Amino acid sequence: MSTISIPVTKTTHSKLSETDFSSLVFGKSISDHMFVADYQNGAWGDFRIVPYGPMEIYPGNATLHYGQAIFEGMKAYKNEKGQVIVFRAESNARRLNESAKRMCMPTVPENIFIEALRQLLSLDKGWVPQEKGSSLYIRPFMFAMDNYLGVKPSESYRFMIFTSPVGAYYTKPVSVKVETNYTRACEGGTGEAKAAGNYAASLYPALQAQKEGYDQLLWTDGKTHSQIEESGTMNVMFKIKGTLITAPTGNGTILKGITRDSVIQLAKDWSQELVERFLTVAELQEALENGTMEEAFGVGTAATIAFINKINVNGKDYFLPEPKPDAFSKRVLSTLDGIKYGEIQDPHQWMLSI
Ligand code: COI
Repeated sequence: MSTISIPVTKTTHSKLSETDFSSLVFGKSISDHMFVADYQNGAWGDFRIVPYGPMEIYPGNATLHYGQAIFEGMKAYKNEKGQVIVFRAESNARRLNESAKRMCMPTVPENIFIEALRQLLSLDKGWVPQEKGSSLYIRPFMFAMDNYLGVKPSESYRFMIFTSPVGAYYTKPVSVKVETNYTRACEGGTGEAKAAGNYAASLYPALQAQKEGYDQLLWTDGKTHSQIEESGTMNVMFKIKGTLITAPTGNGTILKGITRDSVIQLAKDWSQELVERFLTVAELQEALENGTMEEAFGVGTAATIAFINKINVNGKDYFLPEPKPDAFSKRVLSTLDGIKYGEIQDPHQWMLSI
């Protein structure tokens, strides 16, 4: 694999000493540096690492008007020896490129993605928290750079990575409401891509649910609103009568979550029955009514494993007890944490050492 040369301009005003690592709020503190690459004339170039800060774009920037923007979310951890390790970075690089194809954007060669990540994290390794439950959230993203108002794929793009030390996205169990009016994604749409616009479109419906006291929505399919798809910030899994059920990917509406994939792999390793199929709203309500819903939880990079303790279906609230210590969701959270912090064996070579 060829390496790339990345000139570095170091900050003269590090914010590290002003950052309180004991009370990290998701997405609030940003580390000192960022990686930048520009795509022009069909090739990526002008690689650089510079102090995190504002950048100039034209008011006619195509992203601001037509929304060609995609992103990723991944996390770095520190093991006991203080080494920085990143969870499933190659998978994120691949998924970024899947999103790029759907949004008519250029792909980023995996070696550029990984090398940029390595060099950025080496420089900002002081920003990777060591405390259990904290990590360095990594935000790679790409957006159109043409200064042109015609509706067409941009010809120039910027790819960037910056990082943020974070604590838990959800600091307590999550309450969700089944959404049967608004739609997050339709077959043939962009739901599977990690496209910025998917999140913009979800804000209004999510806000309505938040006004009613719920943390998030459980999205249903756009055609019939009868099948559970995913939640706004995470994929979802249900354990009913001993079997885990999660929506399948591949029809274009479900984000191919990397945490989702990791949980499925661990379930396989443990011979835990798991089926990838759509759970209907009626089945969900029935399982909540008759007490066969054993566990419900979200799975995502930011959310990690988020226990769901309240689900509103057709206007009725159902409550779920705190999962028992031997519950699948608890076990899978502690195993994933063990792997991510380098405390237990990593049987699938998920961790990338920086
Ligand atoms: C992630 O889990 O990394 C996400 O992208 C979800 C959210 C924070 C937008």
